[in-house]
Amino acid sequence: MPRISYVNGQYLPLSQATVNVEDRGYQLADGVYEVIAIFNGLLVDKVDHLRRLARSLNELRISLPVNISALNFIMNETIRKNRVVNGKLYLQITRGVAPRDHAFPANCKSSIVVTVSNVSWPSRDESKQGCCVITAADIRWKRVDIKSVSLLPNVLAKQEAIDASADETWLVNEEGYITEGTASNAWIVTQNNQLVTRQTDENILAGITRKTILKLVQEEGIEIVERPFTVIEAQSAKEAFFTSSTALIKPVTSIDNVSIGNGNSGLMTCALIDKYFEFMENLTENS
Ligand SMILES: Cc1ncc(COP(=O)(O)O)c(C=O)c1O
Repeated sequence: MPRISYVNGQYLPLSQATVNVEDRGYQLADGVYEVIAIFNGLLVDKVDHLRRLARSLNELRISLPVNISALNFIMNETIRKNRVVNGKLYLQITRGVAPRDHAFPANCKSSIVVTVSNVSWPSRDESKQGCCVITAADIRWKRVDIKSVSLLPNVLAKQEAIDASADETWLVNEEGYITEGTASNAWIVTQNNQLVTRQTDENILAGITRKTILKLVQEEGIEIVERPFTVIEAQSAKEAFFTSSTALIKPVTSIDNVSIGNGNSGLMTCALIDKYFEFMENLTENS
């Protein structure tokens, strides 16, 4: 069965799903996106993802080409047509097609693309396997709170991780603080069991998984501190992990080849993985 994607009003096999060469997303990275996990047939944290999408669009003065109920229909229909039960949905909206010029075009209809693909999510035990992180300079633009398709620095930094046989790169700003990962938010657990993650501002993407975890840990009485932390502090932390819609919660057992804690996935991290799986297993249509 060919994969079906939605492109500007049509459901098409992927091989025929094309965009105009003058689409501003293609030529100028003038667009935004969301990636939403599909777990047991349901979109994880759909409401929050659509809220962040609306914010990104608003910041860039791009309008949603369809209304929200149509967008919901399109997402569900793309999932249904592909018979995806566990997977991920990619949604991209660009400013649209216009003769190439930096200035916003007049009367340009925004473009929308939705694709879905299968993902075999890890089991809880598989999720608890540790991974390695390296660090690199954060050379991105100053509005990474907008989930824009302009991802070249993230692409290069992620490739650095792969080249170093690591799984993710944590980006470090000019003051020596870790901002976030190339496609994830960064967390540590300090020696006195504080859970620390950087506050949301223009220097990081406000991760939806991050937000859900903060909500889940509040019920556990864990002390949470939202503040920046350095590479040295992360390397001497008791535990470290990163989060995203597709990585879920990933324990970090080394940063730049320095072991974290006892070199195994942390106890709090593993407890949070259990909690997050419970959350996903109890999703409802409107979550
Ligand atoms: C730069 C960056 N930070 C954080 C995240 C995590 O966000 P979310 O939890 O919404 O997937 C992502 C996800 O793609 C990302 O690209």
